[in-house]
Amino acid sequence: MTELSEFLLKRRSVVVRNMEEPGPSSEDLEKIMRAGMRVPDHGRLTPWRFIVIRGEAREKLGKILGDAFRKENPDCIDEQVKIEEERFVRAPSTIAIVSRTNPEHKIPEWEQILSSGAACQNMLTAALGMGFAAQWITEWYAYNDDVKTALGLESGDRIAGFLYLGSMTDAPSDRQRPEYEDIVSEWTEPAA
Ligand SMILES: Cc1cc2nc3c(=O)[nH]c(=O)nc-3n(C[C@H](O)[C@H](O)[C@H](O)COP(=O)(O)O)c2cc1C
Repeated sequence: MTELSEFLLKRRSVVVRNMEEPGPSSEDLEKIMRAGMRVPDHGRLTPWRFIVIRGEAREKLGKILGDAFRKENPDCIDEQVKIEEERFVRAPSTIAIVSRTNPEHKIPEWEQILSSGAACQNMLTAALGMGFAAQWITEWYAYNDDVKTALGLESGDRIAGFLYLGSMTDAPSDRQRPEYEDIVSEWTEPAA
């Protein structure tokens, strides 16, 4: 078995609460994003964009999250808003992965969306393989229009995920996985 397949059979994300400094350097980030660009992409439409959020930008974007949260939840308390403002400072850096499709194109939009999921997974795998802590999450703000506008998204863009990146404080233990037999079947003839 190759080293890569062994790695994939054991791979685990590292949750954002178990992240600390240092995060990936600029060079490391570029490597991770180049891995994200190297995904199957039917029709070569490049249906994804990556946005890096790090340093002071994390607090600036956090403020926008706080305001958006307050707007969505007018009865919320200040402590809740503070948690939202601090989302991005949980990790040294984050990559927002944007799905930018062309729904008019003959390549089905579904396939264009799938490619952005592949980009997320390639970057997650690359980052973990480089020894970084990494987690792919969306949380509520991936779906918030004010946050999307602040990130510079165009109309129709979707956030496929935020890839939080850092160093690991605690190694993850394994988690329950589905049973192979429940997932896998072999087709031999048409279903009745
Ligand atoms: C599109 C997508 C969105 C996700 N959003 C969240 C999220 O908002 N919060 C969360 O705790 N996990 C979220 N997850 C799950 C984590 O990425 C991950 O599955 C979990 O931490 C265990 O990962 P592992 O199986 O790679 O070890 C999301 C996963 C996907 C694919």
